[in-house]
Amino acid sequence: MPFNFAQIFQDDLITSMVRKTAYGLATTCVLGAAAYAGYCVAAPEKHQLRHYRHPELNDQIEKVLDSLKITDDQLEQIMHLLEEEMNAGLSPLTHHQAIVKMFPTYVRNIPNGTEIGQVLALDLGGTNFRVLLIDLRGNSRIELTSKIFLIPQSVMIGDGKRLFRHLAECLHEFMQKERILNTGVCYPIGFTFSFPCQQEGLASARLTAWTKGFDCSGVVNEDVVKLLQDAIDEKRINAKCVALINDTVGTLMACAYKDPSTAIGLILGTGTNACYIENLDKVGTWKGDYNEPKQVIINMEWGAFGDNGRLNLIRTKYDEEVDLSSMNPGKQIFEKMISGMYMGEIVRLIILDLLQQELLFLGHRDTYGDYKTPLYNRGGFYTKFVSTVEIDEGIQFSNTRRVLEDIGIRNPTYDDCAIVRHICRQVSKRAAKLAAAGLAVLINRIGRSNITVGVDGSLYRYHPRFKHNMERCMETLINKSIQFKLTLSDDGSGKGAAMVACLADDSLCKKSVVHNETTRD
Ligand code: BGC
Repeated sequence: MPFNFAQIFQDDLITSMVRKTAYGLATTCVLGAAAYAGYCVAAPEKHQLRHYRHPELNDQIEKVLDSLKITDDQLEQIMHLLEEEMNAGLSPLTHHQAIVKMFPTYVRNIPNGTEIGQVLALDLGGTNFRVLLIDLRGNSRIELTSKIFLIPQSVMIGDGKRLFRHLAECLHEFMQKERILNTGVCYPIGFTFSFPCQQEGLASARLTAWTKGFDCSGVVNEDVVKLLQDAIDEKRINAKCVALINDTVGTLMACAYKDPSTAIGLILGTGTNACYIENLDKVGTWKGDYNEPKQVIINMEWGAFGDNGRLNLIRTKYDEEVDLSSMNPGKQIFEKMISGMYMGEIVRLIILDLLQQELLFLGHRDTYGDYKTPLYNRGGFYTKFVSTVEIDEGIQFSNTRRVLEDIGIRNPTYDDCAIVRHICRQVSKRAAKLAAAGLAVLINRIGRSNITVGVDGSLYRYHPRFKHNMERCMETLINKSIQFKLTLSDDGSGKGAAMVACLADDSLCKKSVVHNETTRD
């Protein structure tokens, strides 16, 4: 083909023009995005575009959501109330009637990373049950294998014996798969049982109440370690439960394994609770010895804060409704305002309220009547939706739209999405503030200059702003001389239980590794 200069010139010219236009567009986009980002950072509240374009509707919506707002004065008041309840729980004179139970856990030593042993851990606290085989190798090295089993709803609310038999069957299956059944070694078990228990020792714990949707008969007031061990022995499994811990304790332990300034364990998941290291001289209910270290981890069971009405100053009609329709009305009031089991439901009730007041989903009258959609059904708005919605930052609302379609709102408008995101933000921010106030009480009370909080739980892990919202609030409530840090704890419920089991009977763990031919009874 002959050279055609005119064509080449033309092509070059076109290419260069296209390129220039593309560069121009790209630059505009980058500058635009940068300007928008700058604007968002500079004016975080304003950019949320959360309002209807009708000012009078905005005002009415704000009025509804005002009930969720907690002022700084109220937060201080809540902190003061919590500290009073804590002292009541720790005193032998008032412990019996106390709402925040402050159970001594009998865990007094914090791991230092040198522990060695092969231990089984069981973790029960939600709809899943986990079995783990953990190898503590010293030098802060841990190896583990695990398997998750489902706890069917019928077992969660059935006969207690059946629950523990089910746990033993899962353990049997796991040990068989790992080829550690009938080996002649009796494996120590650390049992993470994430419900309120009055402990009389590491391996003795009476359940005081079920929470989080469990309600098995014949377990309250019974020794949970014994119930588990009976089921294990019935199946002739070569394992012995040497320690029971709460998930908050596991979280603290697993975090302390890596960071010695850890003094608090916090769970923000299906339920919520915290534990911390307390000096024995402040624990009037302590029945153990006073040897060194003169400290013990206290399982606060702070979820019950407010069960005597002391949080009524901040409770809304939505909180009351969530509580009334729960399996344990009047119980776990603080937990019901914070944790993952209830957060989605609070949002759903607010959405329904706004809808009934004709402030939301205008123009969706045709779908109002479909009572089969999740929007109208208890539990229909999952807590994970709150996180999904809040991941939406700008004005596209791609996540929010998907969530709204999932709950039965077809073709939601921009306004619908903006309002629903605003509701989610208010509900999760309130929860973060309440958890922050609780932590602030603990951090100020412990008073060390440097404190790490080990945190775990799905709400904390997956919500895009929870940590940030908590930290912002904590900064205003914690004494300025104290440095604090929130650290995500890595599988505390599993590893923490193994560490406690190992510390509980150090020789036992070593025996199972070193002389793995010996049988224990
Ligand atoms: C239980 C606590 C537990 C918390 C987090 C609460 O419902 O009472 O024992 O630590 O949930 O799992």
